[in-house]
Amino acid sequence: MSEPRGQFSSKIGFLMAASGSAVGLGNIWGFPTQAASNGGGAFVLAYLVLAFLLAYPALMAELVIGRHARANIVTALDQLGERPLTKRLGRAVGYYGVLIAGLILSFYAIVAGWMLAEFGKPVAHLIGWSGAEQWLGGDSLVRNLLVCGIFTAFTVAIIAKGVEDGIEAWSTRLMPLLFIILLGLILYVLVQPGATDGLKTYLIPDFRQLADPGLLLSAMGQAFFSLSLGVGTMLIYGSYLRKDDSLPRMGAAVTLLDISIAFTAGLLILPAMYVAQHQGIAIYGDNGELLAGPGLIFQVLPSLFANMGGAGTWLSVAFFALMSIAALTSSISMLEAPVSVVTERTRLKRSGAAWSIGAVIFVISALIIANMSTLFDATVSLTTEYSQPLLGIALCLFVGWIMHRNQLLNELKAGHQDIEHSLFWKIWPFYVRIICPLLILLAFIQTLR
Ligand code: PHE
Repeated sequence: MSEPRGQFSSKIGFLMAASGSAVGLGNIWGFPTQAASNGGGAFVLAYLVLAFLLAYPALMAELVIGRHARANIVTALDQLGERPLTKRLGRAVGYYGVLIAGLILSFYAIVAGWMLAEFGKPVAHLIGWSGAEQWLGGDSLVRNLLVCGIFTAFTVAIIAKGVEDGIEAWSTRLMPLLFIILLGLILYVLVQPGATDGLKTYLIPDFRQLADPGLLLSAMGQAFFSLSLGVGTMLIYGSYLRKDDSLPRMGAAVTLLDISIAFTAGLLILPAMYVAQHQGIAIYGDNGELLAGPGLIFQVLPSLFANMGGAGTWLSVAFFALMSIAALTSSISMLEAPVSVVTERTRLKRSGAAWSIGAVIFVISALIIANMSTLFDATVSLTTEYSQPLLGIALCLFVGWIMHRNQLLNELKAGHQDIEHSLFWKIWPFYVRIICPLLILLAFIQTLR
């Protein structure tokens, strides 16, 4: 209440921040490996279709609510309702959303910490600190806690600086760096022997797999996670966008950037796996499955880099810098969701709110680290498989049924005068009311079976 509300200074600032949120471990690791294990090009196609059919409309719902209310998710949903019941429902959905954002951050920071550790290893090697190199390569509880804590502290430090000096400034620095490292790595890996086999696995579609409902589900889950939907991150970023920018265009640009980077990352990860195989490194697990999970990032790729000698050390620095950057621009958006609720609804200042929420999240991460085998997967599925789609449905319903139609149309018109001639204008308001929530629900029910 006390501090003035932040705002992105330009379109580019918003684009970098929102695509920074969207582009994360989900794009560079999740998407390529899911594609590899689910029918290659068939998964890529299903993903493209679902991203435009379900995720883009749901992203628009969040941006519209956020910019209309100019507030955090709890206050925004509370304001949309006119009756006590809808208001209470709105607050409940909002609080649930930011709780999920915090929980996603608690497991994301663990994985991002491992990326930092892997980044630190070759750096320690280059400066000759072999003790540190070995320690970082180990798997001790202390190491895992420390690297997770460092990553969380970076996240908090950026959020504590606010919208323009923190989120926008860091996203506009880090995103171009991410593009450059990604392209550089692709160019290097594609000319190595074995790379084309990876391209084939990635791009040649096995259409029989399209009939498998599991494929569509994974593609939907991936699209929701990748566009950071349901948990108030896109909503709060939308609330910092100026009124003279067109929401449908900004939303489409973020979706396109997110999809293109996921697709491009596949041109790195799969060829790299097959280059590793060409060098005699096992890329299939004991049961014949592709090593797509942590085995890929923390065994296959490090062995590949180790095989490449001096160049490998630099490749490893670049690759894990890429992963850490991607994770950081996403984790700041996860933290901004609860921090904006606390600063706008209590007297707490931004930096106090950021550090205290960060501390709570770190305690949850520590609990997960100490009980990895039971808590990690449970947290991932509670948040990403169950909560994100359900919250996505709820937000579509709020825009479709509770927000006034003229408020909604005004929000779409702001910054986009000629929108009335577009297909978006004709279809979306109805689509988001009925079809989009129904389709998400249908896919979700399949998950439960
Ligand atoms: N979109 C991010 C990724 O792909 C993850 C994320 C989820 C970010 C939810 C914010 C909120 O890694």
